[in-house]
Amino acid sequence: MKRTGFLAILVIALLTIPVSSQTVIKVNQEDSAGIISKHIFGQFSEHLGRGIYPGIWVGEDSEIPNTEGYRTDVLEALQELQIPNIRWPGGCYADDYNWRDGIGPRDKRPVTLNVFWGQVPDDNSFGTHEFLRFTDLINAEPYLSVNVGSSTPKEMSDWVEYLTYDGETSLTKMRKENGREEPWEIKFWGIGNESWGCGGNMTPEFYADKYKQFATYSRNLSGNQLYKIASGMYNDVYSWTDTLMRKAGNMMEAISLHYYTIPTGDWGAKGPSIGFSEEEYIKTIQASLRMDDFIVGHSEVMDKYDPEKRVVLAVDEWGIWTDPLEGTNGGFLEQQNSLRDAFLASTTFDIFARHNERVKLANIAQTVNVLQAMVLTSEDKMLKTPTYHAFEFYTVHYDAELLPMEFESPDYTNSDVTIPALHGTVSKSKNGQINITLTNLDASKAHRLTLNFDDLSGKSISSARILTADNVNAHNTFDNTDIVSPAGFNGVSVSNNEVSVNLPAKSLVVITLN
Ligand code: AHR
Repeated sequence: MKRTGFLAILVIALLTIPVSSQTVIKVNQEDSAGIISKHIFGQFSEHLGRGIYPGIWVGEDSEIPNTEGYRTDVLEALQELQIPNIRWPGGCYADDYNWRDGIGPRDKRPVTLNVFWGQVPDDNSFGTHEFLRFTDLINAEPYLSVNVGSSTPKEMSDWVEYLTYDGETSLTKMRKENGREEPWEIKFWGIGNESWGCGGNMTPEFYADKYKQFATYSRNLSGNQLYKIASGMYNDVYSWTDTLMRKAGNMMEAISLHYYTIPTGDWGAKGPSIGFSEEEYIKTIQASLRMDDFIVGHSEVMDKYDPEKRVVLAVDEWGIWTDPLEGTNGGFLEQQNSLRDAFLASTTFDIFARHNERVKLANIAQTVNVLQAMVLTSEDKMLKTPTYHAFEFYTVHYDAELLPMEFESPDYTNSDVTIPALHGTVSKSKNGQINITLTNLDASKAHRLTLNFDDLSGKSISSARILTADNVNAHNTFDNTDIVSPAGFNGVSVSNNEVSVNLPAKSLVVITLN
């Protein structure tokens, strides 16, 4: 081929890749927009389906390679993820859980019925000690979810004493006999879960009274400070938050919010986790972006009673919930995880970061094999999902200062839906590093961006990575675990206080400047 012919083909090829005009983003380095708490990147692991058994726990005698009974591959993947906190044992399961069933010699523990999730037996081999050892091994803080629906304040206060008191009582003697001499430090305690539904079908008034009873009898022992989280509402049901804040706001550190993205909006037919159309993709993301409205709505109600914003809004269950995978037990909530889900996570983090004055704790549902999981397992195989990689990209923002961005995003339109194509978070770490995460949701159009900083003198790119694939449906399989995995990104340059980025269609990037 003659050189001119080649150039002509190249020019035509470049012209056919749709690229929008330049988007200019003003990043304000002078005004701090608050601290992005690392705890918004928390996880949730419930006794549900294959989440705990055998997703995390296989037991010491298993043929699956394990460390003290925990799957070694899963442990290693979760260690890398630097999970800040992990919520356990539920969910709905928590309000049917008796912590005493999960302590002592494993062969003496009762086999109980997991009524909520598939009505399957639970041998309780993963109990309190196993959970707390797991959090030690992955270096996460535990978040215990307490049974309010079918239990008593005394059961909670006994659990607190068993775990956190450093003196001699019958309960602490039992803890020591069970292998733990020193008390644990346990900060996060959720008092009830979805108490308006699976956690007891209570009215807000009744739950507020119950909450106060439980909170009264759970005490700070031996220097351990309890951070008490009340069971909050879902979506835009603000009346529950109003009653709780009015009646019990002074006795809580946080109130929760649950929001699941259902692709079709119909709980009866939620839509598939893979094999969806572009129209379904954009509608799903549009639905997930509603998290912003719900946070604003609940915060406004909280402001009435707590203008100082002392009480945190803890989004301790969120993520995409699709139809279960064909051939799996419907009660096990197993779904695949695609590039779409990575974007759902990254754009949700952007929302949490922007609302850092209220949102300081959040937990995606759920860590392993359930709903929007970080890792999936099949016998002795494990894969990291696209959502795992989104979480890993955002570790740069842990406890960093949010730098406000001003920009107008180009639109991304498909069918009758239009949403902003560009999303992102820019932060400054304590060591001065600048962290940029950007998502281009547009399934076919690349975007050029310029981020204008006040002063980037002395800074250069220390790392740049991208997560993208051929299709928003792309996902990893046990035969090919790297279909959606991070790669080096060379579409970024820095000069004159400006960071220029060529952001490919359907991509998420993380850039650090040092
Ligand atoms: O995460 C699955 C379930 O969703 C939880 O158990 C419950 O709290 C919510 O309804």
